[in-house]
Amino acid sequence: MIALYYSLSQFDKIVDLSSKVNHMPDVPFNTPNPATFDLLMNRRSVKAKDMEGPGPDRATLEKILRAGMRVPDHGKLAPWRFVVLEGEDRGKLGDAICDALIKEQETSEKIAEKMKGYSTQGSVLVVAIFSPREHPAIPHWEQQLSTGAACQNMLIAATALGHAAQWLTGWGSYSPSVRAALQMAEAERIAGFLFFGDKPEKQPTERPRPELENHVTWGWPGL
Ligand SMILES: Cc1cc2nc3c(=O)[nH]c(=O)nc-3n(C[C@H](O)[C@H](O)[C@H](O)COP(=O)(O)O)c2cc1C
Repeated sequence: MIALYYSLSQFDKIVDLSSKVNHMPDVPFNTPNPATFDLLMNRRSVKAKDMEGPGPDRATLEKILRAGMRVPDHGKLAPWRFVVLEGEDRGKLGDAICDALIKEQETSEKIAEKMKGYSTQGSVLVVAIFSPREHPAIPHWEQQLSTGAACQNMLIAATALGHAAQWLTGWGSYSPSVRAALQMAEAERIAGFLFFGDKPEKQPTERPRPELENHVTWGWPGL
Protein backbone atom coordinates (compact mmCIF):
# COMPACT_ATOMS: atom_id res chain seq x y z
CA MET A 1 0.00 0.00 0.00
CA ILE A 2 2.84 2.32 0.88
CA ALA A 3 4.51 1.40 -2.36
CA LEU A 4 1.32 2.07 -4.28
CA TYR A 5 0.86 5.42 -2.58
CA TYR A 6 4.48 6.22 -3.22
CA SER A 7 4.21 5.19 -6.83
CA LEU A 8 1.14 7.27 -7.35
CA SER A 9 2.80 10.29 -5.84
CA GLN A 10 5.77 9.71 -8.13
CA PHE A 11 3.43 9.48 -11.08
CA ASP A 12 1.85 12.80 -10.14
CA LYS A 13 5.26 14.35 -10.08
CA ILE A 14 6.06 12.91 -13.50
CA VAL A 15 2.77 14.18 -14.90
CA ASP A 16 3.30 17.63 -13.42
CA LEU A 17 6.93 17.79 -14.35
CA SER A 18 7.68 20.71 -16.61
CA SER A 19 8.61 19.67 -20.12
CA LYS A 20 11.68 21.90 -19.76
CA VAL A 21 13.66 19.85 -17.24
CA ASN A 22 15.79 16.79 -17.78
CA HIS A 23 15.32 15.20 -14.39
CA MET A 24 13.18 15.52 -11.29
CA PRO A 25 15.33 17.52 -8.85
CA ASP A 26 13.00 16.92 -5.90
CA VAL A 27 13.18 13.13 -6.21
CA PRO A 28 16.43 11.32 -5.23
CA PHE A 29 18.08 9.45 -8.08
CA ASN A 30 17.18 5.76 -8.34
CA THR A 31 14.26 5.93 -5.94
CA PRO A 32 12.60 2.47 -6.07
CA ASN A 33 9.39 2.60 -8.06
CA PRO A 34 7.57 -0.75 -8.33
CA ALA A 35 5.00 0.77 -10.68
CA THR A 36 7.77 1.19 -13.24
CA PHE A 37 8.42 -2.54 -13.11
CA ASP A 38 4.71 -3.22 -13.61
CA LEU A 39 4.71 -0.93 -16.62
CA LEU A 40 7.73 -2.70 -18.13
CA MET A 41 6.02 -6.07 -17.69
CA ASN A 42 2.71 -4.86 -19.15
CA ARG A 43 3.78 -2.38 -21.82
CA ARG A 44 2.58 -3.27 -25.28
CA SER A 45 2.95 -1.49 -28.56
CA VAL A 46 -0.33 -0.28 -30.00
CA LYS A 47 -0.53 -0.71 -33.76
CA ALA A 48 -0.12 2.76 -35.31
CA LYS A 49 -3.13 2.14 -37.54
CA ASP A 50 -5.28 1.50 -34.45
CA MET A 51 -4.21 4.64 -32.58
CA GLU A 52 -6.67 7.40 -31.94
CA GLY A 53 -6.18 11.16 -31.71
CA PRO A 54 -5.18 13.75 -30.69
CA GLY A 55 -2.14 12.04 -29.11
CA PRO A 56 0.53 13.78 -27.04
CA ASP A 57 0.59 17.57 -27.18
CA ARG A 58 3.81 19.52 -27.64
CA ALA A 59 4.65 19.70 -23.91
CA THR A 60 4.06 15.96 -23.47
CA LEU A 61 6.09 15.19 -26.55
CA GLU A 62 8.95 17.24 -25.15
CA LYS A 63 8.81 15.13 -21.98
CA ILE A 64 8.87 11.96 -24.08
CA LEU A 65 11.86 13.24 -26.08
CA ARG A 66 13.72 14.28 -22.92
CA ALA A 67 13.10 10.85 -21.39
CA GLY A 68 14.36 9.36 -24.64
CA MET A 69 17.66 11.15 -24.27
CA ARG A 70 18.21 10.04 -20.65
CA VAL A 71 19.90 6.80 -21.63
CA PRO A 72 23.31 5.25 -21.15
CA ASP A 73 25.54 6.84 -23.78
CA HIS A 74 29.26 6.03 -23.78
CA GLY A 75 31.25 9.26 -24.01
CA LYS A 76 28.13 11.44 -23.88
CA LEU A 77 28.12 11.57 -27.66
CA ALA A 78 24.32 11.79 -28.06
CA PRO A 79 24.57 9.95 -31.39
CA TRP A 80 20.98 10.59 -32.45
CA ARG A 81 18.57 13.23 -33.56
CA PHE A 82 14.81 13.25 -33.78
CA VAL A 83 12.61 14.77 -36.47
CA VAL A 84 9.10 15.44 -35.21
CA LEU A 85 6.44 15.33 -37.91
CA GLU A 86 2.98 16.59 -37.11
CA GLY A 87 -0.01 17.48 -39.26
CA GLU A 88 0.77 17.94 -42.95
CA ASP A 89 4.46 17.20 -42.49
CA ARG A 90 3.59 13.55 -41.92
CA GLY A 91 2.11 13.44 -45.40
CA LYS A 92 5.40 14.69 -46.84
CA LEU A 93 7.11 11.55 -45.57
CA GLY A 94 4.37 9.46 -47.17
CA ASP A 95 4.97 11.30 -50.46
CA ALA A 96 8.71 10.66 -50.18
CA ILE A 97 8.14 6.93 -49.59
CA CYS A 98 5.72 6.78 -52.53
CA ASP A 99 8.19 8.56 -54.86
CA ALA A 100 11.02 6.33 -53.66
CA LEU A 101 9.02 3.16 -54.35
CA ILE A 102 8.40 4.28 -57.93
CA LYS A 103 12.02 5.35 -58.47
CA GLU A 104 13.90 2.60 -56.65
CA GLN A 105 11.56 -0.37 -56.87
CA GLU A 106 9.71 0.43 -60.06
CA THR A 107 6.51 -0.04 -58.11
CA SER A 108 3.40 0.97 -59.99
CA GLU A 109 2.02 4.37 -59.12
CA LYS A 110 -1.22 2.78 -57.96
CA ILE A 111 0.47 0.51 -55.42
CA ALA A 112 2.98 3.18 -54.33
CA GLU A 113 0.13 5.61 -53.66
CA LYS A 114 -1.15 3.22 -50.99
CA MET A 115 2.04 3.77 -48.99
CA LYS A 116 1.17 7.44 -48.60
CA GLY A 117 -1.08 6.53 -45.70
CA TYR A 118 1.81 4.90 -43.83
CA SER A 119 3.14 8.11 -42.35
CA THR A 120 -0.21 9.55 -41.33
CA GLN A 121 -1.01 6.69 -38.98
CA GLY A 122 -1.22 7.73 -35.33
CA SER A 123 -1.16 11.39 -34.32
CA VAL A 124 2.51 12.28 -34.23
CA LEU A 125 5.50 10.69 -35.89
CA VAL A 126 9.05 10.99 -34.60
CA VAL A 127 11.75 9.89 -36.99
CA ALA A 128 14.56 8.64 -34.79
CA ILE A 129 17.85 9.06 -36.61
CA PHE A 130 21.08 7.37 -35.65
CA SER A 131 23.65 10.12 -36.12
CA PRO A 132 27.07 8.64 -35.36
CA ARG A 133 30.02 10.65 -34.07
CA GLU A 134 33.60 9.73 -34.90
CA HIS A 135 35.45 8.79 -31.73
CA PRO A 136 38.74 6.89 -31.35
CA ALA A 137 37.44 4.60 -28.60
CA ILE A 138 33.68 4.44 -29.06
CA PRO A 139 32.60 2.44 -32.10
CA HIS A 140 29.41 3.07 -34.02
CA TRP A 141 28.06 -0.22 -32.65
CA GLU A 142 27.92 1.22 -29.13
CA GLN A 143 26.33 4.37 -30.47
CA GLN A 144 23.67 2.30 -32.23
CA LEU A 145 22.90 0.53 -28.97
CA SER A 146 22.45 3.87 -27.24
CA THR A 147 20.14 5.06 -30.03
CA GLY A 148 18.03 1.93 -29.61
CA ALA A 149 17.84 2.60 -25.89
CA ALA A 150 16.64 6.15 -26.63
CA CYS A 151 13.85 4.78 -28.84
CA GLN A 152 12.74 2.29 -26.21
CA ASN A 153 12.82 4.94 -23.48
CA MET A 154 10.46 7.01 -25.59
CA LEU A 155 8.00 4.12 -25.95
CA ILE A 156 8.09 3.59 -22.20
CA ALA A 157 7.72 7.31 -21.45
CA ALA A 158 4.78 7.68 -23.83
CA THR A 159 3.05 4.66 -22.28
CA ALA A 160 3.73 5.96 -18.76
CA LEU A 161 2.13 9.25 -19.73
CA GLY A 162 -1.00 7.48 -20.99
CA HIS A 163 -0.33 7.45 -24.72
CA ALA A 164 0.07 4.75 -27.33
CA ALA A 165 3.35 4.13 -29.11
CA GLN A 166 4.83 1.90 -31.79
CA TRP A 167 8.33 1.59 -33.24
CA LEU A 168 8.31 0.75 -36.93
CA THR A 169 10.85 0.76 -39.73
CA GLY A 170 9.87 -0.94 -42.99
CA TRP A 171 11.19 -0.50 -46.52
CA GLY A 172 11.11 3.31 -46.44
CA SER A 173 13.61 3.52 -43.61
CA TYR A 174 16.30 1.93 -45.80
CA SER A 175 15.55 3.86 -48.97
CA PRO A 176 18.32 6.27 -50.10
CA SER A 177 15.68 8.60 -51.60
CA VAL A 178 13.71 8.75 -48.35
CA ARG A 179 16.90 9.41 -46.43
CA ALA A 180 17.77 12.19 -48.88
CA ALA A 181 14.27 13.67 -48.56
CA LEU A 182 14.82 13.80 -44.80
CA GLN A 183 18.11 15.66 -45.39
CA MET A 184 20.07 12.92 -43.70
CA ALA A 185 23.87 12.80 -43.79
CA GLU A 186 25.62 9.86 -45.46
CA ALA A 187 26.49 8.11 -42.20
CA GLU A 188 23.08 8.58 -40.63
CA ARG A 189 20.49 5.81 -40.46
CA ILE A 190 16.83 5.73 -39.59
CA ALA A 191 16.55 3.91 -36.27
CA GLY A 192 12.80 3.98 -36.38
CA PHE A 193 9.58 5.67 -37.22
CA LEU A 194 8.12 6.16 -33.75
CA PHE A 195 4.38 6.61 -33.93
CA PHE A 196 2.49 8.16 -31.03
CA GLY A 197 -1.21 8.59 -30.46
CA ASP A 198 -3.94 7.74 -28.01
CA LYS A 199 -4.93 4.22 -27.01
CA PRO A 200 -8.00 2.73 -28.63
CA GLU A 201 -10.65 1.37 -26.31
CA LYS A 202 -9.80 -2.22 -27.21
CA GLN A 203 -6.98 -3.56 -25.03
CA PRO A 204 -4.05 -5.19 -26.80
CA THR A 205 -3.46 -8.86 -26.07
CA GLU A 206 -0.15 -10.34 -24.98
CA ARG A 207 2.14 -11.75 -27.65
CA PRO A 208 4.45 -14.73 -27.16
CA ARG A 209 7.56 -13.73 -25.23
CA PRO A 210 10.95 -15.45 -25.23
CA GLU A 211 11.46 -18.03 -22.51
CA LEU A 212 14.26 -17.26 -20.08
CA GLU A 213 15.88 -20.68 -20.44
CA ASN A 214 16.27 -20.27 -24.22
CA HIS A 215 18.21 -17.04 -23.93
CA VAL A 216 19.97 -17.03 -20.60
CA THR A 217 22.82 -19.15 -19.31
CA TRP A 218 24.06 -18.88 -15.77
CA GLY A 219 27.73 -19.17 -14.96
CA TRP A 220 30.91 -19.32 -17.01
CA PRO A 221 30.42 -20.90 -20.47
CA GLY A 222 32.53 -24.00 -21.27
CA LEU A 223 34.74 -26.01 -18.96
C1 LIG B 1 13.92 -1.49 -34.86
C2 LIG B 1 12.54 -2.08 -34.90
C3 LIG B 1 11.80 -1.99 -36.06
C4 LIG B 1 10.53 -2.54 -36.15
N1 LIG B 1 9.83 -2.45 -37.31
C5 LIG B 1 8.63 -3.02 -37.41
C6 LIG B 1 7.91 -2.95 -38.63
O1 LIG B 1 8.33 -2.33 -39.59
N2 LIG B 1 6.70 -3.57 -38.68
C7 LIG B 1 6.17 -4.24 -37.59
O2 LIG B 1 5.08 -4.78 -37.69
N3 LIG B 1 6.84 -4.28 -36.42
C8 LIG B 1 8.03 -3.70 -36.30
N4 LIG B 1 8.71 -3.76 -35.11
C9 LIG B 1 8.10 -4.44 -33.95
C10 LIG B 1 7.17 -3.54 -33.15
O3 LIG B 1 7.70 -2.30 -32.86
C11 LIG B 1 6.83 -4.17 -31.78
O4 LIG B 1 7.94 -4.76 -31.27
C12 LIG B 1 5.74 -5.16 -31.89
O5 LIG B 1 4.74 -4.56 -32.62
C13 LIG B 1 5.14 -5.57 -30.55
O6 LIG B 1 5.98 -5.68 -29.49
P1 LIG B 1 5.76 -4.95 -28.09
O7 LIG B 1 4.31 -4.95 -27.76
O8 LIG B 1 6.58 -5.71 -27.13
O9 LIG B 1 6.30 -3.55 -28.25
C14 LIG B 1 9.98 -3.19 -35.01
C15 LIG B 1 10.71 -3.24 -33.81
C16 LIG B 1 11.98 -2.69 -33.76
C17 LIG B 1 12.76 -2.77 -32.47
